[in-house]
Amino acid sequence: MSAHLLTLTHINKSFAEHHQQHPLLKDLSISVNQGEVIALIGASGSGKSTLLNIIAGIELPDTGRVTVEQTVLNQLSEADRTRFRRQQVGFIFQFFNLLPTLSVRENILLPLQLNQLTTDQAFFELLVNSTQIEQLLDRYPDDLSGGEQQRVALCRALIHQPRLVLADEPTGSLDNETADQVFTLLLNIAHQEQQTLIIATHNLQLASQTDRVCRLASGKITEQTLS
Ligand SMILES: Nc1ncnc2c1ncn2[C@@H]1O[C@H](COP(=O)(O)OP(=O)(O)OP(=O)(O)O)[C@@H](O)[C@H]1O
Ligand SMILES: [Mg+2]
Repeated sequence: MSAHLLTLTHINKSFAEHHQQHPLLKDLSISVNQGEVIALIGASGSGKSTLLNIIAGIELPDTGRVTVEQTVLNQLSEADRTRFRRQQVGFIFQFFNLLPTLSVRENILLPLQLNQLTTDQAFFELLVNSTQIEQLLDRYPDDLSGGEQQRVALCRALIHQPRLVLADEPTGSLDNETADQVFTLLLNIAHQEQQTLIIATHNLQLASQTDRVCRLASGKITEQTLS
């Protein structure tokens, strides 16, 4: 049996603009091992967020297959894709996507509630303490800075200990020191939980700490060595 957790096969995705199709991802294929930590780099507009959305089943490719273990994600119904995402995936969105009517604590605990899981209090405290948001738990997202919201989004993505974590520029709103801490936390938890982690980032210094760096350009992925 293959050790691949995730396989993308011949993925194509284009967007329509002014009655023209613009190809964004072109016959893109990649396999990712269980427990592997990957940095996804590439210019703004190269398609990093789109690719993460396709891996999570939020968006569908035009053609090609997304396979997570034995499941071909893009052949599932929308309801099954949603269930899969809720249970197996932790997604840190580039623009956070916190729910404004829920407190910070409620936002973080939401994945547990949706999966009818009980809270592991020690793990909850580990997350909020190491992201330094323990003082913010009763506040609401609109009252937080961008960097604070980003750290809440990170806790929410990890709380249910998913096997696949997709992080879309998870340190983009943080100062250098906090970015280093949050990145280290993501890597440590991934190792501890044997998670497969894909991090889109523009920060090459952080990217160089991962197992494998993949550059997205002209719709394709190439492996890159950062010195
Ligand atoms: N739903 C959509 N409809 C039309 N165009 C889209 C759609 N989603 C993405 N695009 C276009 O696809 C391109 C890639 O967008 P994407 O957000 O994936 O890039 P990115 O690599 O994440 O960029 P950044 O580093 O700025 O976050 C952009 O030109 C964007 O405008
Ligand atoms: Mg993006």
